[in-house]
Amino acid sequence: MAFNSLFITFEGIDGCGKSTQLLKAKRFFTENGYDVVETREPGGSMIGRHLRALLLEEGAKIQRSEVLLFMLDRSEHVRQVIEPALQQGKVVLCDRYIDSTLAYQHDFSFELLDTLNQFATGGLKPDLTFYFDLPLETAISRRRSRPESDKIESRPHSYMENVLARYTKVCLREPQRIKVIPAHHPIEEVTKMMEVHLRGSIASSP
Ligand SMILES: Nc1ncnc2c1ncn2[C@@H]1O[C@H](COP(=O)(O)OP(=O)(O)OP(=O)(O)O)[C@@H](O)[C@H]1O
Ligand SMILES: [Mg+2]
Repeated sequence: MAFNSLFITFEGIDGCGKSTQLLKAKRFFTENGYDVVETREPGGSMIGRHLRALLLEEGAKIQRSEVLLFMLDRSEHVRQVIEPALQQGKVVLCDRYIDSTLAYQHDFSFELLDTLNQFATGGLKPDLTFYFDLPLETAISRRRSRPESDKIESRPHSYMENVLARYTKVCLREPQRIKVIPAHHPIEEVTKMMEVHLRGSIASSP
């Protein structure tokens, strides 16, 4: 990819602080003179916005269909939004990406989901991923301040426990790329921990 471009993704269960810290990262890069694109999955592309409504408001009834809809969203997002921005040397900050599928679609094997992710993305992996690690109860209590839950957030406690367990395995598979940040600390402290890695990513980019 182009000079100075960086692709960074934000992962973790709902309420762990992804959006909060993505904004802090955006400020960090902007202050350091980088051009930043902020995006998310599902819904980062034009077709993806329809898919987001379908996935989170309607909810896919068939699990395989849900996986494929996420992959369709990702394929559009990579080609229409992420790759063009990286080719222009921008920093792309993306709220959820391939690792969310591995965690949330946990009825399917890593092997299958890796293959589908590879197909949808053409092999584009983030340079750096943050996993904000937070106990389920804390995430639920943080989300109470928000009035509505979407179809995926409203799944039972047992489903979310499986999501957390899968995220743990996902992090263990790629410790170089995925930085685990303990997210129960106050916002500013979490940001400081993240910024250590952001400074490292600037230092090591070509
Ligand atoms: N470190 C923190 N300590 C306390 N509260 C926090 C912290 N980080 C975020 N919050 C608060 O918790 C709530 C959820 O945070 P945020 O929206 O960033 O999470 P999220 O991971 O983006 O959630 P979602 O996946 O549902 O979009 C917000 O009200 C936010 O202000
Ligand atoms: Mg969010």
